Amino acid sequence: MIPVKIRDDVYSLRANDWDRKLFDELVPLPDGTSYNSYLIKGGEKTALIDTVYPPKTAEFIAALKATGVETIDYVIANHAELDHAGSIPAVLELFPKAKVVANARCWRMMCDTMPLNRGSFVEAKDGRALSLGGKTLKFVFMPWVHWPETMGVFLEEDRIFFPCDFLGAHLAATELTVGDEAEFVIAAKRYYAEIMAPYRVQCRSALARVEELKPEIVAPSHGPVHIKPSVIIDLYRRWTSDDVKPEVLIVYASMYHSTTAMVGRLTDRLMEKGLPVKLINAVGLDSGVLSMALVDASTVVFASPTVLVGPHPSLAYAAILANALAPKTRFAAVIGSYGWGTTMPDLLREMLREFKAEFFEPVLTKGAPNAETFAAIDALAESIAAANATLTKGGETGAPA
Ligand code: FEO
Repeated sequence: MIPVKIRDDVYSLRANDWDRKLFDELVPLPDGTSYNSYLIKGGEKTALIDTVYPPKTAEFIAALKATGVETIDYVIANHAELDHAGSIPAVLELFPKAKVVANARCWRMMCDTMPLNRGSFVEAKDGRALSLGGKTLKFVFMPWVHWPETMGVFLEEDRIFFPCDFLGAHLAATELTVGDEAEFVIAAKRYYAEIMAPYRVQCRSALARVEELKPEIVAPSHGPVHIKPSVIIDLYRRWTSDDVKPEVLIVYASMYHSTTAMVGRLTDRLMEKGLPVKLINAVGLDSGVLSMALVDASTVVFASPTVLVGPHPSLAYAAILANALAPKTRFAAVIGSYGWGTTMPDLLREMLREFKAEFFEPVLTKGAPNAETFAAIDALAESIAAANATLTKGGETGAPA
């Protein structure tokens, strides 16, 4: 880990975590991640924006020393989560006179998880500025991206915005800025889908605040720095919009191929009607793949066999996850199979109670699907196609991919 200059007297201190496989024991990290801190040296004062995940503290402190910094006056905490705030105690140990600048809620949350000296706190207020001498930091509150206390900081003279988690990506990389843009877009979408999507409306408000600032650089606390902020801003504008794509996502599991036979029939009928279909097997699910698919698909079908009168546990997990992510899905359905009795559709619907979509009638088969089952699947395909055609006519569908 080495300090990298962004602009005069502004440095990135990025702790790459190439080996981390899961975030919060929940979110897969196929590309690792990074925890980015930023050092800003003013004519009179020096500030650090965010710190790093505690296991990375030692290398972070070494990189901080490598900048030649003699004192830190302010440690600005944009967010209380420990992957950014967790090394603050170590910084205060090294620079005991430093003040911790945070909004009141963030400060209280940090005090809940770390030993902090209450005398070190300086409260940040929305829209107020902190001068370092030739470098002015303006606080921009952006609550609920993705915790209640989140904020960003705008360095006015250099027009750099530091949004912490917002507009970030779980991507370990040595390049300061976005290298492979195609790779970055997938990482950014996965990150948005898993972390920010449940707060889509709040993200839209936060995005408007970022756009008002007209930053030349956006420097988040995960992943690369954006020297073309319009790329990430345009992506977020699309993801956070109310637009959906006329596309059917089928999340399925099958034990003796009855459910997969129904999924196959439905896929074929939908393809005939010109609707794109994406299939995700819920067994061994990568939650990021499901989350990304949920960002803008108009329609989701949950297809499950019956296990002990309920859904297959893998479908139950997928449904609970989909429900928590609160996607903008417009239409949904449950299909599946059973041997002698089932409450699977009702139990899945209960798991999807926050899923604000219009549900079509479930289609079920006892044992292997027969002609009657396939006729019901064909009718479901007709209903899905008709509903999506209405959406398209209404101009509510989004931009391509
Ligand atoms: Fe990267 Fe919400 O912490």
